[in-house]
Amino acid sequence: METNKQLNAVLIGCGYIAYYYGLIASKHDNNFKIIGCYDIITQRMIRWAEHFGVKTYKTIDEAINEKTADIIINLTPPDQHFLINQLALQQNKHIYCEKPLATTITETQELLKLAKQKNRMIGAAPCSVLTDAISKICELINQQAIGQVRFVTFNMHDFRIDLGRPDTWINPLGVPWPYKNEFQEGCTREHSAYSLAIATTLFGPVSWVGSLATTVIPEKKINKQETINVTTPDFTVSILKFANGIVGQLTCGIISHIPDRSIIIQGDIGYIKLDDCWNYNSPVTLTQRFFGENGLEIKERHIEFNKDSERADYYNIDQARGITNLCNAIQHKSILVCGNEHAAHVTELTNSISQGIQKSPQTQFERYLPEDIFNAIRLSKPIKY
Ligand SMILES: NC(=O)c1ccc[n+]([C@@H]2O[C@H](COP(=O)([O-])OP(=O)(O)OC[C@H]3O[C@@H](n4cnc5c(N)ncnc54)[C@H](O)[C@@H]3O)[C@@H](O)[C@H]2O)c1
Repeated sequence: METNKQLNAVLIGCGYIAYYYGLIASKHDNNFKIIGCYDIITQRMIRWAEHFGVKTYKTIDEAINEKTADIIINLTPPDQHFLINQLALQQNKHIYCEKPLATTITETQELLKLAKQKNRMIGAAPCSVLTDAISKICELINQQAIGQVRFVTFNMHDFRIDLGRPDTWINPLGVPWPYKNEFQEGCTREHSAYSLAIATTLFGPVSWVGSLATTVIPEKKINKQETINVTTPDFTVSILKFANGIVGQLTCGIISHIPDRSIIIQGDIGYIKLDDCWNYNSPVTLTQRFFGENGLEIKERHIEFNKDSERADYYNIDQARGITNLCNAIQHKSILVCGNEHAAHVTELTNSISQGIQKSPQTQFERYLPEDIFNAIRLSKPIKY
């Protein structure tokens, strides 16, 4: 078994999602350890630090300059990502950043340039790729179980968040879900990267993207007193043309009563369905359709894989796998899925889709070999659950 040196990380942004990172990080302590945290809201920083037993800092500079830290984990809101990522790279730290890496393509390119100059790695959420389900799907595609892949549908419908009283959602450390920011950012910036990370890992870079982005429900009535007027899209439909000729369709919204985060991959002799790309234990189904002796024959089977994750406290997502993947990549044990150029590509696609424009992306990355994907997934899983 490959052993890793344990790397040290400092977490910036002790908000809503930080609790779930802290919880799962302990399962990955053979790869990394969070040794300190910082937040501009001192109370939040102290609460997180006390709960997870780490040190605190007086300023962001002090936190990022932590001598013993190899990695800065950036869990601040999107508009802070670029500056903090830039600061961390300048101080020769590797970074792991929540989505998006930056809010513009210029800033994203600047981070790539800086990372190259400093010889540092950029890991980026989401790590929805690092699951047994995706490994199985990759294996089935590679074995030609559905023949040549032609068309892929990515659904990323969350439910009607506005009707779910998001003003009452609070994590166990007392931090509220930042619903105003979430509505202002828009669901495409917040959610489409889960699908895009999987899509581009399996099928490589996108050579053309075009989308319709619209605000279907501009008045989000949160409770009897509060209505938020939003201008960012709450529904986008996009077409992705991959460089290898496969065509994809991605729908992202918060206007449906029924959540649907499925992925359907269609080839010449069948299709593969993943029921929910947010759930690491989601079923995978292979359906084959081919002409046998008696005409069209249809075979359907559920693909079994070991239960991937025991967690069910936050949509069954293990956020720390992305950081373990980064640790493995730093120590040359696997490729970095959704890192550096790939992360920039996903960021550019997200921005384009959210803006409802058509373009050939400026960012590109080299498509992975299936064995590199299998290896990265295998090594990113925690040893203990
Ligand atoms: N909330 C979710 O459900 C969720 C899920 C997955 C990913 N994310 C992503 O995680 C990131 C954080 O989201 P969140 O929901 O935890 O937001 P949040 O607003 O609850 O937390 C962000 C924290 O960052 C702090 N902060 C802001 N600027 C800072 C700065 N300059 N220096 C230090 N700290 C600063 C804030 O005080 C706050 O405590 C976002 O990129 C979001 O897209 C959120």
